Amino acid sequence: MRIDLNQALEVLDQSDVVAVPTETVYGLASNGYADRAVERIYRVKGRPIHNPLIMHYCHPDAAEDDVIWTPAAKALAQAFWPGPLTLVLARHPQSRISMLATAGLASVAIRVPAHPVFAELLKRCPYPLAAPSANPSGRLSPTHADHVLAFFKGTIPVIDGGPCQYGIESTIVDCRQFPRILRPGALLDEDICAVLGIQALEYFSEEGVAPGALKAHYAPTKPLRLNAVTVGPDEGLLAWGQPLPGAMVTVSLSPTGDLREAAQTLFQGLYELDCSPCRQIAVMPLPNQGLGQAIHDRLQRAAAAFENSD
Ligand code: TXA
Ligand code: MG
Repeated sequence: MRIDLNQALEVLDQSDVVAVPTETVYGLASNGYADRAVERIYRVKGRPIHNPLIMHYCHPDAAEDDVIWTPAAKALAQAFWPGPLTLVLARHPQSRISMLATAGLASVAIRVPAHPVFAELLKRCPYPLAAPSANPSGRLSPTHADHVLAFFKGTIPVIDGGPCQYGIESTIVDCRQFPRILRPGALLDEDICAVLGIQALEYFSEEGVAPGALKAHYAPTKPLRLNAVTVGPDEGLLAWGQPLPGAMVTVSLSPTGDLREAAQTLFQGLYELDCSPCRQIAVMPLPNQGLGQAIHDRLQRAAAAFENSD
């Protein structure tokens, strides 16, 4: 069911979940200070309880009592918020964030999103909103309200804010000590480096620091074959640039070879192919620089979901 902002506020005040548009992907939001509300998120998503959630705020100041800021975090927040950046910081001893939302960790992931509808909702909530992507755990991320309605068979109310601008999740940076990237995402690491005045950033995604950086994730229901240079007649093709001939159905990530456009259409493209009658999805090779890094990360995890299957 599609709902408006006022209806969403009522649902949230009842400690229930609402799907919301963000500039990255749709989120499944609830009151981040209330265990009961956060528990609903884990239950609805089927999310493992050890995988913590990102807390969303209307303004960095609203997170003042929840985290311990560092100079690097301040600089990045100043440069990129509101926007597709998530900061991991130490939990403030006085924080009221539900321990369930942070999976009992001593750290918290926070973000100030840019989507005007989500920003307005946050402004009107007297609490931050915990929100993972609005997909069943391990599946494709939603970039359209219709995806959310389809994934949850219409059981989750959604605010329709149109297609997501970036189409790929926020970049997560652990800022507790020397900044390092826990998840590549919509914000480029070269832009982060420029603000921090450094040459390169370390990537770090071992389980334990980014518990959600699971090897298998973001998966369609059909097997995925990467770096395809030929395509079979029973396959659906996710094309980059000029499409390979011979596929049963073709979806183009970007006909002109634009990575920004490819990120925007990635999950929608996978979703369309997943709904088509093809047996398997073949993905053409695409560059691994800039936004291509985040796209590769998602595709590799999606393919890993089928590594042990045939
Ligand atoms: O763009 C986004 O970030 C979207 C929108 C809705 O804001 N949200 C999103 O949430 O992608 P989710 O739950 O799908 O992914 C959040 C990731 C998970 O991999 C989780 O493990 C990690 O953030 N995370 C959350 N809290 C953390 C923490 N304290 N330390 C390290 N990683 C954390
Ligand atoms: Mg997710």
